[in-house]
Amino acid sequence: MTVISVQAEKTYPVILSNSWSSETLKILTGRTRVAVIVSKDFNPDLSAIQSSDSEVHLFQVPDGEEAKSISTLISVWNWLGAAGFTRTDLVIGIGGGAVTDLAGFVASSWLRGLDWVAIPTTLAGMVDASVGGKTGVNSEYGKNLIGAFHSPSAVIIDTKWLETLSDRDFSAGMAEVIKCGFIADAKILDIAGSHTLDTLRADRKATLELIERAVAVKAQLVSSDFKESFAREALNYGHTLGHAIEIHSKYNLRHGEAVSIGLVYAAELAAARTLISDTELLLHRTLLTTYKLPITFERQAWGKLAPLLALDKKARGKTIRFVVLDGIGATTRLEDLTSGELDAAYERIGS
Ligand SMILES: NC(=O)c1ccc[n+]([C@@H]2O[C@H](COP(=O)([O-])OP(=O)(O)OC[C@H]3O[C@@H](n4cnc5c(N)ncnc54)[C@H](O)[C@@H]3O)[C@@H](O)[C@H]2O)c1
Repeated sequence: MTVISVQAEKTYPVILSNSWSSETLKILTGRTRVAVIVSKDFNPDLSAIQSSDSEVHLFQVPDGEEAKSISTLISVWNWLGAAGFTRTDLVIGIGGGAVTDLAGFVASSWLRGLDWVAIPTTLAGMVDASVGGKTGVNSEYGKNLIGAFHSPSAVIIDTKWLETLSDRDFSAGMAEVIKCGFIADAKILDIAGSHTLDTLRADRKATLELIERAVAVKAQLVSSDFKESFAREALNYGHTLGHAIEIHSKYNLRHGEAVSIGLVYAAELAAARTLISDTELLLHRTLLTTYKLPITFERQAWGKLAPLLALDKKARGKTIRFVVLDGIGATTRLEDLTSGELDAAYERIGS
């Protein structure tokens, strides 16, 4: 078992264990009621924790982004009310990022804040969504517009869950892992580069090391800058164009797939300013395609994507700012990019 500590509005452990149920049983000790939120479609086997002394209430919610709808949120609030949840009870989200985002937001809002535990079951959930304290649901005006910073009491990561994850979802998670490698930990790039999607999926030890390293990168950046002013912004590498592509694709692309294209775009911007070498630029393309991630996007979409860049949450005022690499493992931000530079970089990723 490995424990990585995150210092946010409170300090909490990310526990990497090969028995999520025994870690969870320890956390349930002394809790009267526990709300376990899962997706109806994923529906994990919870028999191990249902045997605990706490009253375990299972709340099944719709799968994927539907879990983060206002109607689902209201139904979970109603369930909590009907089951008599009090300030000392616990919420647990077991699932992908959609379920843990919902569970965290439910916990932040019910009675002005209950404790909650994230048990991520997708790779993206393990290395990204469950760590960092951001919780939220979607509004009809966009994704994640309603939310709160509300850190979990613990995150429990067990790589066993990944056995049933689709290749597509595994790859989408790898985009965030590779991003962490580029911004802060070159060893991640070495490990990812020495595998293929199939060999990595078969190698639990290497997968665990990648998760551990990616979580450590996120934990370190979040701990130094919980509410996102400067340091945490490095985590946004690849996300400026990535978010625009996600919106443009009407969320048909996975977040990680859109980020993958965004990483290559940001690398093109940095290479054009000689902040990274052509070899480092090529490494982006090679690693991401190794994990079957897209690295190009429709050339004719640029006219629609360019205006969306200014809508990115990380844009300040009217300035479009990009996190780019200043060599492997170091980031900087560019706020003075001309439309000529933005166009030229897109031309190089256009298909
Ligand atoms: N809070 C944050 O900081 C943060 C960061 C990144 C992403 N997110 C959010 O996370 C969500 C995306 O998360 P995601 O990529 O995990 O997608 P997801 O939660 O939609 O899950 C993807 C699919 O995988 C299934 N699944 C989950 N675990 C499985 C398993 N072990 N085996 C088989 N199938 C499994 C789910 O049922 C779902 O169909 C988005 O809503 C995004 O906004 C939040």
